[in-house]
Amino acid sequence: MQNKPFSIAIDGPAGAGKSTMAKALAKSLDAMYLDTGAMYRAIGLYMLRRDAVNNAAAIAKAVEDVDIAVRYIDGAQHLFLGDEDVSQAIREPEVSMAASTVSAVPEVRERMVALQRGIAEGQNVVMDGRDIGTKVLPNATLKIYLTASAEERARRRCRELEEKGMPESYEKVLQDMIRRDYQDTHRAASPLQPAEDSVHVDSSNMTIDETVALMRRLAIEAIEKR
Ligand code: DC
Repeated sequence: MQNKPFSIAIDGPAGAGKSTMAKALAKSLDAMYLDTGAMYRAIGLYMLRRDAVNNAAAIAKAVEDVDIAVRYIDGAQHLFLGDEDVSQAIREPEVSMAASTVSAVPEVRERMVALQRGIAEGQNVVMDGRDIGTKVLPNATLKIYLTASAEERARRRCRELEEKGMPESYEKVLQDMIRRDYQDTHRAASPLQPAEDSVHVDSSNMTIDETVALMRRLAIEAIEKR
């Protein structure tokens, strides 16, 4: 009999390295990777362009009609708004805060969660976000809550922005990170919190390779036990 597909949920605050680690983990397990934050970012960008990030009613209305799609091109996840590939545009720092703001609107979460479940259905998947273990995949084979100190996360984000040619000051990145953490953990709809049955991994003092290796060990153990 065919084994039922496995799913690995990775949640945690901004900048903990979720997407880097989750992507590497998915590759090593030959599973599909879904970055759910990119979907909220696309909605954030859509509302920024309409100058309506702080208008919850407009956001709730827009999310019903927005033509958002996740496509895989040469194995990499791309986000589309209509025919436009917005995968680059959604990485701009101003989109981070907009994504956090629109993600607090319940109608946005409802539509994104439904899309995420649809994409993952029937596949081996590694998914990262804020509510994957608590809401999107409550029966995930393994749930990891990935953290690192705010200072370490800000340092990493600065490096990443610099590599992308979009440098920002450490102070600004740290302040943004703390504000976004607050917003993500204090919203009423599916706030960021560890699932009760999640394994906590603190990557502050580990390299990427060490963290991925630890996550892979946990994943294989959980997959074998399923
Ligand atoms: O992971 P990220 O930084 O790309 O996510 C951008 C924002 O989207 C984040 O501040 C909160 C929101 N988000 C969410 O509410 N739920 C998810 N599953 C993923 C992201």
